[in-house]
Amino acid sequence: MLKIVVATNNTHKIQELRAMLSNSVILYSLKDVGIKVDPEENGKTYAENAFIKANAVSKYTDLPVLSDDSGIEIEKLGEHFPGIYSHRYALENGGQEALNLKLTQTCANSKAIFTSHFVLLNLKPGQRLDFTGHMYGKINNKVEGVNGFGYDPIFVPDGYDCSVSTLKPEEKNKISHRYNAAKELLSYLKINNYL
Ligand code: IMP
Repeated sequence: MLKIVVATNNTHKIQELRAMLSNSVILYSLKDVGIKVDPEENGKTYAENAFIKANAVSKYTDLPVLSDDSGIEIEKLGEHFPGIYSHRYALENGGQEALNLKLTQTCANSKAIFTSHFVLLNLKPGQRLDFTGHMYGKINNKVEGVNGFGYDPIFVPDGYDCSVSTLKPEEKNKISHRYNAAKELLSYLKINNYL
């Protein structure tokens, strides 16, 4: 089976990626392969940040490296915001829990989009592949649910009337931005006979 190192220290992302990909690919976390890097994500786009993370890890392994840069954009907060700053925005606003509560009061019903951008490096030596997925929805008027992470307790996907955090992980993993990017990746691997 194809082996890939995932360039993230976020255990939620690894869990979700394994649930989506482990029938087809063996995914190693940075901990599994003993790589400690935490590069500064100073890119201006999801793609640039995903490349920064994958590239930093690729210096330490000959295996292909996959990274996922993701975030949420909330229409009421302005164009593409917080987007690539999603993690930092929570830190600067009292932490994720406090920010989520505030957003239910200030941005309820605002359209929102999750994006996940994958960069896969060195499937063939020197090769870079990009895959993107989205999940469309709106901000809830309340915080609800215990599953998932980040903005999941306040994001209602289109076609649903509850936050992602109330869904079972396997349900989130059939509709999420990360799943949609993973689907693109799997289809590339199939078409090119890696699976
Ligand atoms: P990254 O590690 O730089 O990609 O940061 C992504 C940030 O976006 C996370 O810390 C979360 O705040 C948010 N985020 C990304 N994906 C998700 C998701 O699936 N659910 C909820 N929040 C997410």
